[in-house]
Amino acid sequence: MSRSGLSRQEIERRVHALGDWFHNLDLGGVRTAPDHFLGDYPAIVWRAISDALPARLDGRTVLDVGCNAGFFSLEMKRRGAARVVGLDSDERYLAQARLASEVSGLELELRQLSVYDVARLGERFDLVLFMGVLYHLRHPLLALDLLHEHAVGETLVFQSMLRGSQGAFPVARDYPFDEREIFDHPSWPKLHFVEHAYARDWTNWWIPNRAGAEALLRASGFEPRAVPGTEVYLCRRGARPTPDGAVYPARGPAAGEEGPP
Ligand SMILES: C[S@@+](CC[C@H](N)C(=O)[O-])C[C@H]1O[C@@H](n2cnc3c(N)ncnc32)[C@H](O)[C@@H]1O
Repeated sequence: MSRSGLSRQEIERRVHALGDWFHNLDLGGVRTAPDHFLGDYPAIVWRAISDALPARLDGRTVLDVGCNAGFFSLEMKRRGAARVVGLDSDERYLAQARLASEVSGLELELRQLSVYDVARLGERFDLVLFMGVLYHLRHPLLALDLLHEHAVGETLVFQSMLRGSQGAFPVARDYPFDEREIFDHPSWPKLHFVEHAYARDWTNWWIPNRAGAEALLRASGFEPRAVPGTEVYLCRRGARPTPDGAVYPARGPAAGEEGPP
């Protein structure tokens, strides 16, 4: 029996009924994605970053953008977060997160919402997780701008698939018009555009190199600090480096306007 009182057979039946899982969770002894192509994912990532995150989150609020089946949301709850809101654009994953929450006996607030609509929450969170989502977006800088403008109170935990150079690049404040060679430097901040598909997935659109990911974060007002040996950054919310950015919408719902669905 799990904490929810569901039998192993019932959990197995419901896990199976919810289709293919991307998160390999342990739900009352039932593994949801035992043959994952990345191994024991995301536990593998969690082991690499868990010491870098606050050990306790009592009284804190957390938003998990692109929460999928809720692995990281549940870990935040296990660390004592007062509220964890998980949002995902895909209802199939939210159904999996609902079952994970029920079996674990840990409360999550789950919303079907795109990151582009994050202003509709009308709320800032102490900690915002934005992991594994950036490269799935057609408008990655807009998403970071929106998170800075509307959702992140203190810290952003960011992860992206990275391809190309892993090197750092000391970007100058400006370059003359006839400077051309710098763009061919392997570590110049880059976003690689995927016109068709990558890893058989047509939802992979823009994959940064390491300097590109760091530059995007800085350009949207975050101060990235890499977790060594990972693709994860802990980012303090700072000031925007330029007065105007690509933020649309630039504000959340006003009093009396429609809030979250
Ligand atoms: C690669 S998975 C990453 C899941 C999880 N954050 C992790 O790190 O394991 C990407 C997730 O982002 C969600 N997603 C994709 N586009 C989104 C969008 N525009 N707004 C919110 N979620 C999105 C997908 O449905 C999927 O659950």
